[in-house]
Amino acid sequence: MLARLVANRLLEIRQIFRQPLSSRSFSTALNYHIDSPDNNPEQPWEFTDVNKEKAKEILSHYPSNYKQSAVIPLLDLAQQQHGGWLTVSAMNAVAKIIEVAPIRVYEVATFYSMFNRSKVGKYHLLVCGTTPCMIRGSREIEDALLKHLGVKRNEVTKDGLFSVGEMECMGCCVNAPMITVADYSSGSKGYTYNYYEDVTPKRVVEIVEMLRKGEKLPPGTQNPLRIKSGPEGGNTTLLSEPKPPPCRDLDAC
Ligand code: FES
Repeated sequence: MLARLVANRLLEIRQIFRQPLSSRSFSTALNYHIDSPDNNPEQPWEFTDVNKEKAKEILSHYPSNYKQSAVIPLLDLAQQQHGGWLTVSAMNAVAKIIEVAPIRVYEVATFYSMFNRSKVGKYHLLVCGTTPCMIRGSREIEDALLKHLGVKRNEVTKDGLFSVGEMECMGCCVNAPMITVADYSSGSKGYTYNYYEDVTPKRVVEIVEMLRKGEKLPPGTQNPLRIKSGPEGGNTTLLSEPKPPPCRDLDAC
């Protein structure tokens, strides 16, 4: 899996450098910083008043001489406030709060795949691509989403509403295949990160259209024949009451 990811990334880089300079699109294809009008260190960025209070509350969880331990929750808050991605000035603002060199924040933000370094849609759809989900059809799920939205992986739709990315195992393989929807449509106040499980190509397209209409959809399994992660159609084994374990005959000792 790692080898495939590395090979894909090298291929992307090679394809970009084959393009003429004027048409190279680093921001959507690669996850590193290149100054642009909406992402440069001169851009003013600070937490909103509400989020300043949240940041204080986050910092209160850590000893005052270990402020840097708050880097992940603060980056998460910054990302929620900034519509799902982190600009260099947002990361610099976090570095200032926790009193570390900016590189200490960049290295965290660029390591964890839940932090986005380029723009994402208001609804960022993440398809799990790890083995159990892949065996259960995650490639078809991703293809259906990309085709329906008319985008490539990590591209944002023209209306800014959707983007599709890939994640590694999100820990609900028992309900594979699954997708996550990171909802940045209402900033950090209404932010949600919900799992939609047992999905099919048809169901993910329905999910997209429900999100577009602003409808609330139930997270969890999307298969009406399953209850949470229970077997489809009900239990087929372990149907009787289990017998209690035999008691040791203490008199025989
Ligand atoms: S493999 Fe997809 S959730 Fe684990």
